[in-house]
Amino acid sequence: MRSFGRTKSRTLKPRQANLFDTLLPGIAADEARIASLLASGRELWLEIGFGGGEHLAQQAGRHPDVEIIGCEPFLNGVGSLLRHIEEQQLGNVSVLGEDARPLLDRLPDACLSRVFLLFPDPWPKARHHKRRFIQPETVAAFARVLKPGGGWRFATDWADYADWGLRHALASPAFTSPYFEWPAERPADWTQPPADHVTTRYETKGLGDCKPVFLDFVRKES
Ligand SMILES: C[S@@+](CC[C@H](N)C(=O)[O-])C[C@H]1O[C@@H](n2cnc3c(N)ncnc32)[C@H](O)[C@@H]1O
Repeated sequence: MRSFGRTKSRTLKPRQANLFDTLLPGIAADEARIASLLASGRELWLEIGFGGGEHLAQQAGRHPDVEIIGCEPFLNGVGSLLRHIEEQQLGNVSVLGEDARPLLDRLPDACLSRVFLLFPDPWPKARHHKRRFIQPETVAAFARVLKPGGGWRFATDWADYADWGLRHALASPAFTSPYFEWPAERPADWTQPPADHVTTRYETKGLGDCKPVFLDFVRKES
C-alpha cells in the first residue's frame, strides 16, 4: 500500500541534478553502507519522509557524532537534502530515496536511538487511512528497531492523526503499551515544539486542522 503521493514535481535544477551523480552515490543508504554504519557502533537515527531535508540537515549539523539515515521517495526532496548536505558539508548523513518500510524490515533489532516521523501525509479521508504511515506493523517495527530508552517523535497538525498515532503507539483501548511510554505530563508537552525541534517546511504551511502536535514516545526497557 503506497503511503506517499507524487514522487517528482518540477524538473530538478541543474545543480541539484548534478548532486545525484556526484554526492548521492557516496552516501546512498544501500545495504553495504547500512552494514558499515551498524558495524561502526556509532549512534544511529532515522528520519522518515524528510521532505525538503531542513530538519534532518540541522540535526546532523548539531550532532556530528550521530549518523542519520533519511528516507524520502520524493525526488525533489532528496535533491533539496543533497543541497543542504553539500552546503553544510555534512559527513554524517545517509540517504535512501525510497519507501522507509522495507528498510525498517531489514534493520536488526535495537539498532536505532531515535526515529523521526514529522508531519507524515495525513490521508484524512477514512477510506485512505490504510495509507497512513502509522499502522500496527510500522509501530511494531519501531518497537523492534529502537534501542530500549530510544524514542520516536511523531508530529502532525491533523487532530485525528494525532489521536490515531497515540492509539497505535499506546495500543488502544487500554492506552497502555508493552513497548512504548508517553512521558507527557501537561498540554505544553505536546502542544509546544520540543526544545530540539527544527521547524519543517510542511509544518510552516499550516495545512492541517489543528496546531502542530508533538508526541515523543520512549521505547521501554525490555
Ligand atoms: C507531508 S510531507 C512532510 C515532509 C517533511 N517531514 C516536513 O514536515 O516538511 C510527508 C513526506 O513523507 C514522505 N513519505 C510518505 N510515505 C513515505 C514512506 N513510506 N517512506 C518514506 N517517506 C515517505 C512523502 O514523500 C512526503 O515527502
